[in-house]
Order: sequence, then structure tokens, then C-alpha cells
Amino acid sequence: MQDKPPISSTWQTPSNLAIVKYWGKKGIQEPVNPSISFSLSEATTTTRISASPNKRGGFSFRLEGKKAPEFHSKIEKFFDLVRSRLPIINHYHLDIASSNTFPHSSGIASSASAMSALAFCLADLQRQANDKYHYDITDVSSMARLGSGSAARSVYGGWNLWGRLPEIPESSEYYAVPAPTQIAPVFRSIHDDILIVSSSAKPVSSTSGHGLMEEHPYREGRIAQANENTIKLIKHLKTGNLEGFIEICESEALSLHGLMMSSTPSYTLLRPASLTLINEIRHYREKTGIPVSFTMDAGPNVHLLYPDEFAEEVLIWEKEQLQPLCEKERIIRDRIGTGPKKVIETN
Ligand code: PMV
Repeated sequence: MQDKPPISSTWQTPSNLAIVKYWGKKGIQEPVNPSISFSLSEATTTTRISASPNKRGGFSFRLEGKKAPEFHSKIEKFFDLVRSRLPIINHYHLDIASSNTFPHSSGIASSASAMSALAFCLADLQRQANDKYHYDITDVSSMARLGSGSAARSVYGGWNLWGRLPEIPESSEYYAVPAPTQIAPVFRSIHDDILIVSSSAKPVSSTSGHGLMEEHPYREGRIAQANENTIKLIKHLKTGNLEGFIEICESEALSLHGLMMSSTPSYTLLRPASLTLINEIRHYREKTGIPVSFTMDAGPNVHLLYPDEFAEEVLIWEKEQLQPLCEKERIIRDRIGTGPKKVIETN
């Protein structure tokens, strides 16, 4: 029998920013609570996989053009979780080349965009290798989730929900779905300026943080809070209620860090500059009435959020008051984006 020809696939996928935070897992990468995020426009990963038939499978991985063996075990673990759905992993050698638009140490989680890009490429290659294989976007989301939980939400543009809520029949623990509502214009153009407080590696990984939720004394309270915030946030996204949005957004960020500070062992990822930035943002909002707000992921960097219509005045204040507080005055300016793109290869 003649060997099958080599095949390839390239995808560009976004990172995302959660407003209601996923914190704590159960089963195989299922969230203990629902989360809502929006996909970013500028922070993306582009991954190309070229696949050649090979009885032993196998893969190579390059990041920004360089061999990156430190990621092999993560990729292997991911492959083990999805190989029953994607036999291509067993029958082809995969040359994976990835690059990010944002620096590796920028404090933006690259795992969401990296894992969703891998999942898109693999599903596409599986379809090329076997035209009986069909997949839809929820299949890609559920595979991306197995690589990194938050990656489940990086398969769409705009606002997305991951995690089961009885009130929302289409919601699921296994995959993300687009936020089940019309989104008011003010939230369709939201900015996310990432104020870099530190680009050093985190002293405690998100994986360990999720693990500490298992025995956390506030576990049940946190799950109830996230469920409630998710339902409320969906309403605010629909009605354009900025005040309601800000309340949930900031409380979620501080609750996430509060959970870290109250786990056993306890820890904090906040730095003095994180708190100074938060206070500056709240002060500016009180003083001017401009609806700026903040959130944080599991790290010390502060995400400054604001609607597009205030971009001009926010930028002036940001440069004057916030930029000097950032590490090497670094700010990464991003905003809501339209989602993954298949990159058409030209030879
Ligand atoms: O996807 P993970 O395991 O890196 O966890 C992400 C957790 C947060 O970024 C803190 C919140 C979220 O929902 O993205």
C-alpha cells in the first residue's frame, strides 16, 4: 500500500481574560465553578503542525523557532488524554512549530492560546487524514480543555462561558459555549491593558492553586459566589450595566487572590505595586466617573479594563500615573478579539 502523503495545518488562536474566574478542578480538567471570559485580539499563538505517516507516532516541538524540550511532558500528557479521539497522534509524526505574539515572560498565560491552537490543528489534521472524521467547535473546546482548562474558552471570539449552570441548559463542564446572551455594545469593544508588575515566573503554579481548592475552607462559598456572579454577569453583559460589571469584575479578582491567601499552605502572588495600581484605578474612577476597572489572573499583573469610548482620556492618565509603577514601564495593550483563524498556507 502506498504511504499517505504528509499533511499540515496552521491556526492562530487567542489568549483570553476571565472576569468570573475558574479556580479549582474535579474529574479530568472539569471546573468546580463556571467562568466567563473574553478572547483577546493581540495576544495570540500561531501553531503549524506538519504530519508525516509514521507507525510509531512521535513529535518534535519548536517555540519561536527553537527546540523547547521543557514543554514535551505537557504535550505528551495532553496527547495521552486526546489520542483515543485523534488516532492521527499514533499514526503520524508531528512536527509542531509555535510562536506567540506576546513575550513568554509577559505575565499573560500562554497555555490558553497554545492549547487551543494545538487542538484546532490536530482536529483539522485528523479530518484531512480521515474524511469520515467530523468535528465541531465544542469538540475542539473539549480537547483544548484537556490541555489547559482556560483553553476551553479560547476557541471562540468575544465573550464565552465554561462550566455547568442549571439555569443555562447549553452550558457544560466539558466545553465552553459563547456567552448565552446578546452583548451590549459597550462590552463588545472592551480594552484590556496589562500593567506588568512582574514578568518573573510565579512562585506557585496555577495547577498547585487549583489543587489547594480541594480542601479549602471556603470551597462551597466560593462555588456559590461564582455561580451567582456568572448569572449576574450575563445579565450585565446584556443590559450594558457597567456598574454591575465593575462590582463583579473586581470582587472576582480579589476573591481569587483571597482564596490563595487563605489556603493551606497560604501564599500570595500580589506585589506592593499590584495594590498601588488597584488603588489608583479605583481613585481615578471615583474622581472622574470614567468606568475603568481592574482584574487579575493568578499573578501580580493588573489588567486595566475600559470601554473604547473612554480610550483617549484613559491613555493620558495611564501614561502619567500607571506606567511609572510598572516593571520597566511595560504595558501590553490589548482588547476583545474575534477569535481563532485558520491560516491558509501558501507555498
Ligand atoms: O487554565 P489554567 O489551569 O491555567 O487556570 C486558569 C485560572 C485563572 O486564569 C486564574 C482563571 C481563569 O478562569 O482563566
